[in-house]
Amino acid sequence: MKVVAFNSSPRPDGNTTLLLKAVLCELEKEGITTELIQIKRPIHPCTACYKCTANKDGKCVQTDDMMNTYIEKMVEAQGIILGSPTYFGDITPELRAFIDRTGMVCRTNGDLLARKVGAAVISVRRGGAVHAFISANNMFFLNQMVIPCSRYWNFAFGPQKGKVLEDEEGMDTMRTLGRNMAWTMKKLHG
Ligand SMILES: Cc1cc2nc3c(=O)[nH]c(=O)nc-3n(C[C@H](O)[C@H](O)[C@H](O)COP(=O)(O)O)c2cc1C
Repeated sequence: MKVVAFNSSPRPDGNTTLLLKAVLCELEKEGITTELIQIKRPIHPCTACYKCTANKDGKCVQTDDMMNTYIEKMVEAQGIILGSPTYFGDITPELRAFIDRTGMVCRTNGDLLARKVGAAVISVRRGGAVHAFISANNMFFLNQMVIPCSRYWNFAFGPQKGKVLEDEEGMDTMRTLGRNMAWTMKKLHG
């Protein structure tokens, strides 16, 4: 079983990465293979061409970014984690475009993500994390995915780089999420 995690922050060594690593560490302890991917910019927005619905090849026709590689990675995995910092109360524009294009391709090519396990992880300085968390979860809601929970919304506070590690409750939320994601995946895909 495999989980692929995507970091949409432009800072590969920032808070979102630390949160993703905390979740992945628990998954690895449970014997699940993990891969952490730093989303490469740019990720272009969906152009609403609807060619993916006609071509039925499991691909987006835009080929000048990494999106088709990321879609392949998600189709191969049983679990998907989306990570984002909070930007003006929402996810990054890259993750927004990522979700739109993934959803259009996967929903119209035989529901490629159905019943995979999905989780979102958000870092935040002070406010807006719950809205960002719901935005990221829209990928799972609309692709028939299964969402494991933690003890709190999956976010942690990090005013500066690295500071999320000092948010003990936030870090514990990540570790609990990792264990619950592993449990859910074993029930569904073990
Ligand atoms: C463009 C921009 C917008 C941001 N908007 C918010 C916000 O709405 N609320 C908030 O609490 N923090 C906001 N932040 C702070 C980041 O969400 C926070 O520092 C986060 O931990 C950064 O994660 P990273 O290190 O993975 O990039 C913003 C930062 C940037 C660069």
